Amino acid sequence: MPRIAVIGAGLMGHGIAQVFALAGHDVSIYDSVATNLDSAKDRIRGNLRDLGDDQSAVDRVRATADLADAVREADYVVEAVLEDLPLKQELFGEIERHVRPQTILASNTSVIPITKIMEGLRGHTSGYAVPQYIVDAPGGGGKIPVSPNYLLSMSDHKIILRNYEGYVTSYEEPTDYLPSDAAKFKGEKRPEPGQTGVSGLLEGNQMFIKPEGFDETHDRHGIQHRLKDEKKWQPLGIGSGAPRAETRSVSETAPDGQASELLDAKE
Ligand SMILES: NC(=O)c1ccc[n+]([C@@H]2O[C@H](COP(=O)([O-])OP(=O)(O)OC[C@H]3O[C@@H](n4cnc5c(N)ncnc54)[C@H](O)[C@@H]3O)[C@@H](O)[C@H]2O)c1
Repeated sequence: MPRIAVIGAGLMGHGIAQVFALAGHDVSIYDSVATNLDSAKDRIRGNLRDLGDDQSAVDRVRATADLADAVREADYVVEAVLEDLPLKQELFGEIERHVRPQTILASNTSVIPITKIMEGLRGHTSGYAVPQYIVDAPGGGGKIPVSPNYLLSMSDHKIILRNYEGYVTSYEEPTDYLPSDAAKFKGEKRPEPGQTGVSGLLEGNQMFIKPEGFDETHDRHGIQHRLKDEKKWQPLGIGSGAPRAETRSVSETAPDGQASELLDAKE
C-alpha cells in the first residue's frame, strides 16, 4: 500500500490526510506551524466521528515536525500549503532532497500552473515525457532543454549547456557533422590557473562544472546514477577519451551512454 506524505496541515491538508488514512494508507503529515500540526489528528478524528466513519483510521496518521522525516519513505507526496508560488517552489526544492527518485510529487494548488511549481525540478525525475528538445547532461546534471536560455556557448564541434541550477556541461557533436565556422567560440579566457571556465570545457580540459553542493543535493541514497558511471562517459578528447582526430561513427559517439558500452564491448 503506497505511503503518503501530506505537507501542510490546514483546511485541505488534514482533509487529504483523512481520506488517504480512511482508504488504508499510512500517512505522515507535516506543517511548519506547530499549533496546526498538533491539532491535525484531533480534527481528523472529529471529522471521522461526525461522518460516521471508522475513527481508528486516525491511527494511521503520523504527525511530524520534521519535513525530511515526513517524506523520506513516502511513495506519494502532496503539498497543501498556502497558495503562494515561491513558497511551493522552495518547498519542493527541499522535498526533492529527501525523497527517493521514484516518489510522485503532487500539489493541491487551486490556480497556480503546475508546470510553474515543478519547473525547478524538471530534468532529474520527470522521465522522458518532457515536451522539449532535451539532452541528458554528461555527469548526471539531469535533462537540459536545448533552447537559448540554456545554451551558453558553442564551437564547431561542441556545445556548452547550463541547467537551471547552474550545472554547466559540455556536449560533443558527432565527428561526421560538417563543422561551421559561424559557430566558433569567441568568449574570454580566464587567466588564473585552474579557472578555465566555459573555454576549458570547449577545449576539452574538463567535461562539466558543478555548482557548490551539487553532489550532496543529488545524492541518490548511494544508488549509482547511470550518467555518473565513468565507464559510460569517456569523452572525446578528455582524459583517456580518444582525441578528436580519430574517426568514429555517429553511433559510437552517441550521448546516451549506449555508445560507450559499444566501445567497451569492442575493447
Ligand atoms: N480551501 C479550499 O477550499 C481549497 C480548495 C482547493 C485547493 N486549495 C488549495 O490548497 C492549498 C491549501 O489551502 P488551505 O485552504 O488548506 O490553506 P490553509 O491556510 O488552511 O492551510 C495551509 C497550511 O500550510 C501551512 N504552511 C504554510 N507554510 C508552510 C510550509 N513552508 N511548510 C509546511 N506547511 C506550511 C500553514 O501553517 C497551514 O497550516 C492552497 O494551495 C489552496 O489554494 C484550497
